[in-house]
Amino acid sequence: MNAYLTELDTKGYIDEPIDPTLDLVDEINKLKKEKNAVLLAHYYQEPEIQDIADYIGDSLGLSQQAAKTEADVIVFAGVHFMAETAKILSPQKKVLLPDLKAGCSLSDSCPPHLFAKFKEQYPDHIAITYVNCTAELKALSDIVCTSSNAVQIVDSLPRDQKIIFGPDKNLGDYVRKKTGRDLVLWNGACMVHELFSQERIAQLRSEYPHAKFIAHPECEKELLEAADYIGSTAGLLKYTQENPSDTFIVATESGIIHQMQKATPWKTFIPAPPNNACACNDCPYMKLNTLEKVYNCMKFDLPEVDLPADIIARAKQPIVRMLEISARLGL
Ligand code: 13P
Ligand code: SF4
Repeated sequence: MNAYLTELDTKGYIDEPIDPTLDLVDEINKLKKEKNAVLLAHYYQEPEIQDIADYIGDSLGLSQQAAKTEADVIVFAGVHFMAETAKILSPQKKVLLPDLKAGCSLSDSCPPHLFAKFKEQYPDHIAITYVNCTAELKALSDIVCTSSNAVQIVDSLPRDQKIIFGPDKNLGDYVRKKTGRDLVLWNGACMVHELFSQERIAQLRSEYPHAKFIAHPECEKELLEAADYIGSTAGLLKYTQENPSDTFIVATESGIIHQMQKATPWKTFIPAPPNNACACNDCPYMKLNTLEKVYNCMKFDLPEVDLPADIIARAKQPIVRMLEISARLGL
């Protein structure tokens, strides 16, 4: 066990050799039954992980599942803040994350001690934080939100309620426009969603004039202004199913295209190009998870995500508030 813990410190995951003759999908399914485990996966995961998940979803859907699952073990194929959220909602369960180094640049852009100082400057404001943040930051918040309910959560509060919104300035600005409210924004952003090239997207749109351009609200405002539709990953997926267009230019992490393609295989999905030489818009953190790491983490019950009891207690309230408002609004 100690050797594994040292390995986790350095590598972030269990790097035990795996018999190459094993069928990992079968083995993972066996481990799920044996351990009464549920595998939750975000839409940005590798297709082979999405395909063996018990539930695939956006951040809101995943936290709703984490809150209601009856499994003893939650294996979270996603990033660290998502596994933490699952632990906060189900503290009695074991929560496993295949690679502890699966972090988030947006979460990193808002250190809790600096946010606490920022909050002190606005004593008559409440703090709404996007779920892409640490458990410590959630513990400093009044309500948590995700990209699929941020507008409705802000709208559900009295008009004269003053609000600080963090850590994503792009989502915050989008909410500000949609609600007409003057939110105080923390200056954070996601490295994947800030990388799209307006110029290369405009070029693509002239090549595919009938294509719909769809974007996640973590994208920069100039890009959002040009979008035909803006939504969370689940919202984007739904739009591609319901909209009659047969071609979509998709400005978010490319993992979502797997589900879009599965739902409507006759349609064409073009990942929006980033402004660097790299031809892809993969999240380097989401893509740290592999089938091998999922297998090893289920076999060895490591790495486990745990949190101090006081953080769980304080971070739970703002998440539960979000879930309650979402349930009331039918989201
Ligand atoms: P949603 O799945 O809630 O749209 O969030 C996207 C994201 O960036 C998760 O890291
Ligand atoms: Fe974080 Fe951006 Fe990756 Fe989502 S896509 S996990 S916000 S770095």
